[in-house]
Amino acid sequence: MNIAVVGTGYVGLVTGACFAEFGNDVTCVDVDAEKIARLAQGIMPIYEPGLDVLVAKNMQAGRLRFTTDLKSAVEQALVIFLAVGTPPKEDGAADLRYVEDAARSIAEFMNGYKVIVTKSTVPVGTGERLRRLIREHQKKRCNFGVVSNPEFLREGAAIEDFMRPDRVVIGSRDEEAIAIMRDLYRPLYLIETPFVITSLEAAELSKYAANAFLATKISFINEIANLCDKIGCDVHDVARAMGMDNRIGRKFLHPGPGFGGSCFPKDTRALAAVARQYGCTSLIVDAVIEVNERQRAAMISKIERLVGDLQGKIIAVLGLSFKPQTDDMREAPSIYIIRGLLERGASVRAYDPVAMPEAAKVLPEIAYAEDEYQAVKGADALVFVTEWNQFRALDLERVRQLMRAPKIADLRNIYEPEKMRELGFDYVGVGR
Ligand code: UDX
Repeated sequence: MNIAVVGTGYVGLVTGACFAEFGNDVTCVDVDAEKIARLAQGIMPIYEPGLDVLVAKNMQAGRLRFTTDLKSAVEQALVIFLAVGTPPKEDGAADLRYVEDAARSIAEFMNGYKVIVTKSTVPVGTGERLRRLIREHQKKRCNFGVVSNPEFLREGAAIEDFMRPDRVVIGSRDEEAIAIMRDLYRPLYLIETPFVITSLEAAELSKYAANAFLATKISFINEIANLCDKIGCDVHDVARAMGMDNRIGRKFLHPGPGFGGSCFPKDTRALAAVARQYGCTSLIVDAVIEVNERQRAAMISKIERLVGDLQGKIIAVLGLSFKPQTDDMREAPSIYIIRGLLERGASVRAYDPVAMPEAAKVLPEIAYAEDEYQAVKGADALVFVTEWNQFRALDLERVRQLMRAPKIADLRNIYEPEKMRELGFDYVGVGR
């Protein structure tokens, strides 16, 4: 099948590369000529494990190409995915400017039946809006189907999530479009992936609802962790006991410095905005957002309690990206925590295996180390903010000797409190 993917951000690139891997003919389009030129040379704009290899392989096979020429991509394609950005506006609602711009251009270039699919996370009602917009802007009257096919990819595991999804959601009124989409995802039938075929609106809302629910689990366990801190019991045991109930499930009950990234903060705010727009309450999501903001602040207080007055202190921070296996710094808890430490007069020396170039753009005022040991040298405290695997096997004896004071705030509970205390560290985790 011939496919065009508009927008070569995270979602667009992964979608394009994976559909090419399924044997389709894929053209990825972007307005950013420089980005396209780099992609054509095999240079990835983001860090995602396995993506460079997948892109190179499919480019070589002639199934994947990159261009700025939307017109010919649209003319050749049967299915056009919209994967452009939907950044938040001031009130939290998603800014649909890029989606609508792309839809207008697609409408102008249409030369026959097309399926137009939103992959970007868009507010409920966007599909219908796009249908009207495309009708209005068509130069030549052609039939088309509008589909909502939300992605549930996790950064760092995006390819695996695409190839082995828990489910595929397809929302549309157009029978032909649904049949074409089913065909496109046929390779997943082999692994018995369930499909949810529904209305445009239900598909659109399912993405927001799923992400907000996952965010709820995180804020919930963070509140329980803070309670455990006061009671003096271990939140991991509580989470384990809870998670063994299949109705609850074990995942997303890991306490930490709060959720970050490009999805949860944005989608929770957007869901609240959708609810407001329809005159409904969003009490739970509102609380989830507030708990998350407070959690970041609580982490700063935790460090302050451990170190005492932060004025003039050197704090080593390990891990900057919003989670491991990515260089994504969007809404990373590290940004808020580091700024809080700087405001209190501390200086920060940070290390992250891949996110330092991205981090330097938002946090130019801190020092960056070459490795973990350089980061902790002479430090008054060490703070783990992201749980990269390589931090799990540090030479802790060396760490202790290098530090000025052996104090650790482990905001991801990477280590066992008892063991750390035995090793001579003044150690705090989250809820343990
Ligand atoms: C998320 C969703 O998982 C995915 O389905 C959706 O399509 C996009 O948003 P992603 O943002 O890549 O994916 O990251 P995810 O692994 O879900 O983690 C989000 C944030 O929650 C991270 O900051 C992570 O550290 C935090 N988190 C996650 C916790 O603090 N505790 C947990 O138990 C799980």
